[in-house]
Amino acid sequence: MSGSFTRAPRWAFEKQQSNIFSIHRSGMIQSPRGTRDFLPNDMERRRFYEGVLRQTAQRSGFREIQTPIFEEAELFILRSGPNIINELYAFKDKGDRDMALRPEMTAPAIRSFVNNMSNDPKPIKIFYFGQCFRYERPQSGRYREFFQFGAEIIGTATPQTDAEIIATALEMVKALGLKEYRARIGHIGILRKELSRAGVAADKMPEVLQKLDKKLYEEAWPLMEAAGVSRKDADSIFELTGTVGCIDVLDKVPGDESEYLRQIMAYLSAMGAGDAPEIDLGVVRGLDYYTGMVFEIEAPVLGAEKQICGGGSYTLSELFGGEKVFSTGFAVGFDRVLLALEKEGASCPMSRMDAYVIAASGDVSLKAFEIVGMLRRSGISADVDLADRKMAKAMKYASSVGSRFVVIVGSEDLKNDSVTLRDMSSGEQKIVKVSGLPAAIRDH
Ligand code: HAM
Repeated sequence: MSGSFTRAPRWAFEKQQSNIFSIHRSGMIQSPRGTRDFLPNDMERRRFYEGVLRQTAQRSGFREIQTPIFEEAELFILRSGPNIINELYAFKDKGDRDMALRPEMTAPAIRSFVNNMSNDPKPIKIFYFGQCFRYERPQSGRYREFFQFGAEIIGTATPQTDAEIIATALEMVKALGLKEYRARIGHIGILRKELSRAGVAADKMPEVLQKLDKKLYEEAWPLMEAAGVSRKDADSIFELTGTVGCIDVLDKVPGDESEYLRQIMAYLSAMGAGDAPEIDLGVVRGLDYYTGMVFEIEAPVLGAEKQICGGGSYTLSELFGGEKVFSTGFAVGFDRVLLALEKEGASCPMSRMDAYVIAASGDVSLKAFEIVGMLRRSGISADVDLADRKMAKAMKYASSVGSRFVVIVGSEDLKNDSVTLRDMSSGEQKIVKVSGLPAAIRDH
């Protein structure tokens, strides 16, 4: 980005600025369509579950990275496929460069690997959390700004690696406490091979796969027909995408890929990944870069937008100027998984403030502030009346913010270096020495 501002012609800024400043609008400004504000209760819940995911990733040896929210648009255009490209938030920066808000975080993670980590010992296990942007039609569980928690293993191409990534994803869903979910695992190599054998050229493949991903067979057929695929071959490919069930369904599909899937399942079972996924050769994925194993986890409680996690194996590094390196990964749709937990009635611990300090009269206001400072330094969460309110109103406020205790600072009690401590749930009050206040609150 360095120097981008100096390179843009002056008139470009003037034009852009005059456009920006000529916007006139009346009424209340809302957040953009498909985005949300997260208020304190939301954030507390989100941070709790984010922590659960972070701990699960770390327990399996993944380490966190963070990449920019915007990248050169090319990064996402090279291999993401038509779905993603159509939904890209792309723009020119003031240096006339084509940029894009990230629609997903695998391409940035691999770009960062090529730039910074390519000489590190393999496999490299990384995870990330952050917002992504897709210009989609918003609906429940589908947003234009949404959050992904993802993980990638870079540098090995073994069934063990794929099993490890699926097991980590399943572990995360379990750790979050989701009760009902379904994991399906497939191999995009099988479908690609069959499509290519039937006559679909590599450049037509993404479009056909995109239709098969959505099970839009009627729309896939004309594309396949135009590529020279016979009706018989098309029907057997459609049938292949309907191969769903336990590992035995692979008996019908001979070949290396099928054997590879069997091995993944064996490692998953060895790891005790309890609810092992079922086989579903119809898992296609909406992104174009997958080459091998692909998998999805869904939460039926969500209805239409039920996919809470998706992933698979791929190679991207060679496209970004690095050596060809095999990787495998997944991303959990954080917003969707939270929605599913909410629908299942899950709750998480919410923090409460320990003490709210009220000065009974103006002459002890400084003492109230001294006490709140002392409580905070003792590790107790405390707040103090800032509005010079009368006792009754201040108490009402303390109760509305859910404080566990109220500390009433009064001049009479202070003569004995004491204050009144009120337990807000029982209504009990007692006189406590100021020096003993932290212990009295903590021990309760
Ligand atoms: P994806 O399936 O496109 O895969 O997205 C992963 C998850 O993000 C989805 O399963 C879904 O839960 C959530 N998601 C996607 N779009 C939206 C949206 N508009 N609103 C809310 N949630 C959404 C990827 O992005 C790949 N990068 C995953 C991956 C990592 N593959 C290999 N490594």
